[in-house]
Amino acid sequence: MAADMASSSPLLQGVGIDKSFGAFQVLKAVDFHAARGEAIGIVGPNGAGKTTLFGVLAGAFPPTAGTVRLYGDDITDMSATARCRRGIARTHQVPRPFLGMSVFENVLAAANHGAGLAGGTAEALAVETLERTALLHLANRPAAALGLLDRKRLELARALATRPQVILLDEIGGGLTEVELHLLTDLIGTLKGDGMTIVWIEHILHALLRIIDRLVCMNAGEVIADGEPVAVMADPHVMRAYLGSGVE
Ligand SMILES: Nc1ncnc2c1ncn2[C@@H]1O[C@H](COP(=O)(O)OP(=O)(O)OP(=O)(O)O)[C@@H](O)[C@H]1O
Ligand SMILES: [Mg+2]
Repeated sequence: MAADMASSSPLLQGVGIDKSFGAFQVLKAVDFHAARGEAIGIVGPNGAGKTTLFGVLAGAFPPTAGTVRLYGDDITDMSATARCRRGIARTHQVPRPFLGMSVFENVLAAANHGAGLAGGTAEALAVETLERTALLHLANRPAAALGLLDRKRLELARALATRPQVILLDEIGGGLTEVELHLLTDLIGTLKGDGMTIVWIEHILHALLRIIDRLVCMNAGEVIADGEPVAVMADPHVMRAYLGSGVE
């Protein structure tokens, strides 16, 4: 019975999430769930609270109210590091590599601290991850020397080297050319093919639509639509939220 309940629980879930910074309430009773193997897109105008939701799910800061669950277990009070060890990885809207370290060292640090691996096992995972993210030929470059696409790939590689069950991608496609975005979306699609759960915040809808199963739209701290992507895009609440926001 307990095993049945665990297997039917969403992989990652936020229930009734409120988040305030001082007097400013950024998230209002947000319910979010991601099933194992699901690919979910999150859209919404600037300031809707998308990145803040990732912060709460990944443990960057606690919610003001509500519960975060991983496989049904309450992880609301768990640190970001412990969550990472349990399988939640995220990338940041602005990539955050260790600029003084090489590409390899950056990914190795993620394998060490995120996946909890040491020695040759960690090195093998770092090499495998660099291969997968098309960065192996740049392994010895300083992270600071990378162009935008490779910086985005490195941000993804650092998340992947923690061996996540679920990966939270925060505008990883932003600022790329169409061709670069296509390459990165292909790569993200292969993660989905491997059964990884993907939650991807992105303003560029056509990239999202290539891989997502479900689309969530947020506006002013609330989830205003959640469901089949084409239906969500046609939802009058969603169209109204985007009016004049300049998003495609
Ligand atoms: N640490 C913080 N302290 C105070 N206000 C914050 C903090 N983090 C976010 N906010 C505010 O919360 C609101 C939501 O921010 P958030 O970054 O979650 O939006 P977003 O949907 O990710 O937007 P964007 O599409 O521009 O990335 C914004 O008004 C922002 O200024
Ligand atoms: Mg954001």
